[in-house]
Amino acid sequence: MAEAPIVRFDEIDSTQREARERLAQGAPHGTLVVARRQSAGRGRLSRAWRSDEGGLWLSMIVRGALPAAQAPRLTLAAAALAVETLDELAASRGQALRAGVKWPNDLMLPHPIESPRLGPWRKVGGLLLEGVDLDATTLKSAVLGLGLNVRRPADGFGPQLEDSATSLQDAGLDVNVDEVLDALGPPLQRRLLHAAEEAPFAEVLDTLRARSATLGRRVTVEGVVGRADALLPDGALRVLDDHGNAQVIRAGDVWLADPATTPP
Ligand code: BTN
Repeated sequence: MAEAPIVRFDEIDSTQREARERLAQGAPHGTLVVARRQSAGRGRLSRAWRSDEGGLWLSMIVRGALPAAQAPRLTLAAAALAVETLDELAASRGQALRAGVKWPNDLMLPHPIESPRLGPWRKVGGLLLEGVDLDATTLKSAVLGLGLNVRRPADGFGPQLEDSATSLQDAGLDVNVDEVLDALGPPLQRRLLHAAEEAPFAEVLDTLRARSATLGRRVTVEGVVGRADALLPDGALRVLDDHGNAQVIRAGDVWLADPATTPP
């Protein structure tokens, strides 16, 4: 199979927007749209995504039929591939790194200082899956966005993110954006769809369980407060709430619950 193209921009509004357009024009599975800077990068829930030079900002075109209910697997599979690849990249430089995942789409690095909302982790990147051709039964195409802080922005992350964000550079990994793209691009292009299939997805879940920044912690998510106690076979998060009920969460922002305001 011919390698899918990489389309590069110095600056663009959002690689997600560009990838969606290229998808509509027939670009093949695996096409990567990469920009050095984005002027209107976006994250989940329509949040703005800061995209200064020094980060890897990419969107990948995904084509392939998947039952609609399994679409969330793509985000989880991408997260597992990303953290494993980052560890391998670090190992190839003689460094030990163990990246983690805050369910469902945040890429995390360990941090020596506990944060009330994140514990011993800080966010190094995030994933954004947008189903483009998705109906009630089938996902036929999507755009997977990945943003990763490779270098610390020259003027820092800013007051809003300073306590929650980190970069590979902050973790001591001296790599440039192109090296990270060279490491991450091919596994996503070649393995993402396969990883969402039944048996490989069980391995994805094992990876996420072993590297979870969420499981075993007291969390708040979608109005539920309790202990995140399992990642279910379909990728959903199970939280045992304070009333002893098992709540199944399929999407949402997970934060550590503040022990000062929530009962133990
Ligand atoms: C998140 O909210 O954590 C997901 C962030 C995804 C950001 C990436 S950067 C490349 C791509 N283009 C965008 O506009 N967003 C995604």
